[in-house]
Amino acid sequence: MSVLTALHERNSHSKLMEPGPDASQLQAIVQAGLRAPDHGRLRPWHFLAIQGDRREALGELFTKALKLSRPGATEAELTKARAAPLRAPVIVAGLLKPVDHPKVPRVEQVAAVACALHGMSLAAEAQGFGTMWRTGWYAQDAIVIDGLGGSPGDEVIGFLYLGARKGDSKPLAAPEFEGSFSLY
Ligand SMILES: Cc1cc2nc3c(=O)[nH]c(=O)nc-3n(C[C@H](O)[C@H](O)[C@H](O)COP(=O)(O)O)c2cc1C
Repeated sequence: MSVLTALHERNSHSKLMEPGPDASQLQAIVQAGLRAPDHGRLRPWHFLAIQGDRREALGELFTKALKLSRPGATEAELTKARAAPLRAPVIVAGLLKPVDHPKVPRVEQVAAVACALHGMSLAAEAQGFGTMWRTGWYAQDAIVIDGLGGSPGDEVIGFLYLGARKGDSKPLAAPEFEGSFSLY
């Protein structure tokens, strides 16, 4: 798959199943992300792969965070939170670890992490996997961030779900070039 094809045809796939990327495929995915543009080369990030039974541990973390942040959460909501990480064989969590810098504001550091995650999704697609970028309330929850090894002020920019595609891909959205681009 050419880079241009990957960029033109990337398409999220919400239903993912085994097999996920193996260790060397995952390394290729992460390395693609690490080539992201990054103002000042601050590397304001950490990426964590969650796979196998660690996904259950992540589900427990989501459940604990939900119980504490919303004591009135229903059993159905708790069950959904517990099962959320089981929606793919591998998840890469992209954590923003902002660096205090006189010239590089937080928004640019968020952009760097987002570019990295996008690069990872393209590298996964190029190896035949489906991907789905998710956040949800978990991404900014202090208990979730702490449980992932983050510090106060850190934030999950995306949980990139990775795996084999289950079912057909959804149709690509119609091209939006005309409405989204013009000459100044
Ligand atoms: C920062 C970010 C967070 C997102 N969070 C979610 C999410 O929590 N749940 C969801 O269904 N889609 C989420 N999406 C959108 C999907 O990943 C996907 O882009 C969308 O469904 C459109 O499909 P497409 O990527 O194939 O165009 C998020 C996208 C971004 C960039």
